[in-house]
Amino acid sequence: MKGEFGIVFLLLATVAYAKKMRWCTVSELEQRKCADLAKALVASLPPAAVTAFARLSCVRAYSTADCISKIRANKADLVTLDAGEVYSAVKQFGLTAVAKEIYSDGSCILAVAVVRNSSSLDIRSLKGSRSCHSGARWTAGWSLPLGHLLSRNYLLWEEEQPLSQAIRAFFSASCVPGAAAMALSLCSQCQGQRSYIPQKNFYCETSHSEPFYHNQGALRCLQTGAGDVAFVDHTAFDVLDAREKEEYKLLCTDGTQAPLSHFRKCNLGRGPGGGVVTRVNHRKIVRKFLIAAQTAFGWQGRDRQRFQLFNSSHYGVSDLLFRDVTAKLSVLQEDVDINRLLGLDYVALLKGLRHEGSSLEDSVVRWCCISHAEQKKCEQWAFNIKSDPLVCVRASSMSDCIEKVKRDEVDAVSLDATHSFIAGKCGLVSVVTEYYGTKCEFTDGGNGHFETKDLPSVYSVAVVRRSSRNVYFGNMGGRRSCHGHMYSPAGWVLPVKHTLSTEHNNSATCEPNKVYSEVFWKGCLPGAQGSLCKVCVGGTEEAATKRCSDNHNERYYGNLGALRCLVGDPSGKSYGDVAFMEHHNLESNIKYLNSSGWAEGWLPWDFELLCGDGRRVPVVEWKNCNLGAVPPNTVMTRPVLTARIYDFLMKSQETMAAHPESEFKLFESQQYGESDLLFKDATQCLVHTSHLDYRTILGEEFYSQAENIFNCTHSDILRFCNQDVCSIFSF
Ligand SMILES: *[C@@H]1O[C@H](CO)[C@@H](O)[C@H](O)[C@H]1NC(C)=O
Ligand SMILES: *[C@@H]1O[C@H](CO)[C@@H](O)[C@H](O)[C@H]1NC(C)=O
Ligand SMILES: *[C@@H]1O[C@H](CO)[C@@H](O)[C@H](O)[C@H]1NC(C)=O
Ligand SMILES: *[C@@H]1O[C@H](CO)[C@@H](O)[C@H](O)[C@H]1NC(C)=O
Ligand SMILES: *[C@@H]1O[C@H](CO)[C@@H](O)[C@H](O)[C@H]1NC(C)=O
Repeated sequence: MKGEFGIVFLLLATVAYAKKMRWCTVSELEQRKCADLAKALVASLPPAAVTAFARLSCVRAYSTADCISKIRANKADLVTLDAGEVYSAVKQFGLTAVAKEIYSDGSCILAVAVVRNSSSLDIRSLKGSRSCHSGARWTAGWSLPLGHLLSRNYLLWEEEQPLSQAIRAFFSASCVPGAAAMALSLCSQCQGQRSYIPQKNFYCETSHSEPFYHNQGALRCLQTGAGDVAFVDHTAFDVLDAREKEEYKLLCTDGTQAPLSHFRKCNLGRGPGGGVVTRVNHRKIVRKFLIAAQTAFGWQGRDRQRFQLFNSSHYGVSDLLFRDVTAKLSVLQEDVDINRLLGLDYVALLKGLRHEGSSLEDSVVRWCCISHAEQKKCEQWAFNIKSDPLVCVRASSMSDCIEKVKRDEVDAVSLDATHSFIAGKCGLVSVVTEYYGTKCEFTDGGNGHFETKDLPSVYSVAVVRRSSRNVYFGNMGGRRSCHGHMYSPAGWVLPVKHTLSTEHNNSATCEPNKVYSEVFWKGCLPGAQGSLCKVCVGGTEEAATKRCSDNHNERYYGNLGALRCLVGDPSGKSYGDVAFMEHHNLESNIKYLNSSGWAEGWLPWDFELLCGDGRRVPVVEWKNCNLGAVPPNTVMTRPVLTARIYDFLMKSQETMAAHPESEFKLFESQQYGESDLLFKDATQCLVHTSHLDYRTILGEEFYSQAENIFNCTHSDILRFCNQDVCSIFSF
């Protein structure tokens, strides 16, 4: 207590003429709750504290947008907003966030689509229905559901169109409080009083005076029959009693319906909840104010008998000043960047929905390239397409590409099976999958769209020089190894399942790095550390890099790299005894090795494959002598971009089908001196898979292998993804 007063007096000295704290309210009822708070503060806090920072006055505005204007204009000081509005307030209007609402299960909310219990609607067939939304640009009432509808391609959004126009064409009628400025037609179902005097107009406003505003309002919109589906967050159900809960059902992403209690499984994604904003120069005193208010009137407040900060039932409505489900406020003690505050996934979603208006970036596709060679190929690609402009963005590895997609620095990348697994865990989704069959079957008259149930695999093989007679499975201890790259299915995931050496303990198959570094004397596994980097050679000239980098700049990276590693560099020093790679371009890579001058005179005949049972066979016999199937690579992106990336790739594919004579080939890499650049060389075409879950594409067997490995192998990229506030879109 003493300390508290000490702070108070210190404050008195520094802020002798502290002005009143002005809370912005959006309805008469909220104004009343605010006034009660002001009185309670005076009665509860020591007079010095009240004078210093807790003298509260209440400023009446007619909407949350009006509050943002008033705070900017120094006519009010603070207001609680939905995260979508927090983003606008910070990014567009220069305000700052000082606190976050924390609910009983954390700071995140789940977006849900609710229908009446008699409804037969399905999330896949919402077109033409009437919709109710808690608020325009709100996390659960707008961004997450629209992101979902876009990602599944149910909602079509033309590039040059404003999003509001696409939504108007999708729902037959709506009430989206706060959307009046965007498109009045999104307000048709709203019921607030209309007036030409802004202060008296509540129609379609973000104010409790609009009956269909906020979670409870959207449910009311549904219940009165003004709408067929309501988009709210899961906290909306806390105030419903058992009978009221019976009246509604949820729409799940798989097309089914479920009771409200199933919201954890049946939702449209997860995002940040509400926060308090103020002007930047006011943030310190607002923090003190919020702490004092919460200490007195929060759920554990010492004076909660007098006033309850997070309870509005006395006023006959919900969610005044804060959401009633708020368990506490987390007051931010330092200034946090908006990405950390709201989460990368969420900020990227808002950008994808053009929350800040459109920008040049919207019509550009940014592809992730991990090496000098990929960059060259990507630039040729960009030059050869007739669609949205393609921009090639450089990353340092496939994992770095995943991070950059999440950070909204690139849009798409084709990932190997293990990296697809990781990207899936990180909330990215598939667009298309590489097809390695013999013939691509067109679905609709040959315009570049392919669909197939059967996605052929490539195979992992262990290759040796024919001359090294003593290398076989069970006898690899102390040898030198070459592996495609870190996490590569063929070079890292699969070999460890086989008995590499009978003398070594490699039962720990969930830790490949440990097994390889114990069994092999040294090797080259690009992206690894320690002895597994010692055989790597790095890169030179434009592709200069130190050895063991996790991209093609390391000349021992990938399928061609592992082969180079096996024959050794021209000095004959850095070589391996066994190389783990994919089978599909082995023969052409051997030919290329000769013609490129890396190692002249090597023929397919000079190599052999090692089978798991100890046999050795010629390289053409990979079908009966391999280490397992490798699921195909998949192009992955952020959910909101799926339709756009798909269109882009299809246009690219059409252009190429129409110009077979063109020198640029999307699925060839040797002219850039490497193999498998951007896509695997075995690719025949790209098959539509955005309707499939990454787990389905990978297949149960590979999925559980990867899961098993990452249950005990630490991965920086997975940790990065798990750190994100409210991470993972749960669809
Ligand atoms: C559906 O809701 C109505 C009230 O609107 C209720 O009377 C009825 O029991 C509910 N039906 C089911 C199956 O829960
Ligand atoms: C909220 O306030 C009402 C009336 O002021 C009271 O009856 C109720 O018990 C309060 N709720 C909680 C959870 O304290
Ligand atoms: C092999 O490793 C496993 C697990 O790491 C351990 O339980 C076992 O005792 C080890 N066996 C030998 C022979 O070292
Ligand atoms: C190897 O390369 C040399 C020189 O480029 C060429 O003359 C020879 O025919 C090649 N051999 C094979 C088997 O491709
Ligand atoms: C990995 O761990 C998760 C959570 O601990 C568990 O549910 C899952 O079954 C594990 N998977 C494998 C393949 O061990």
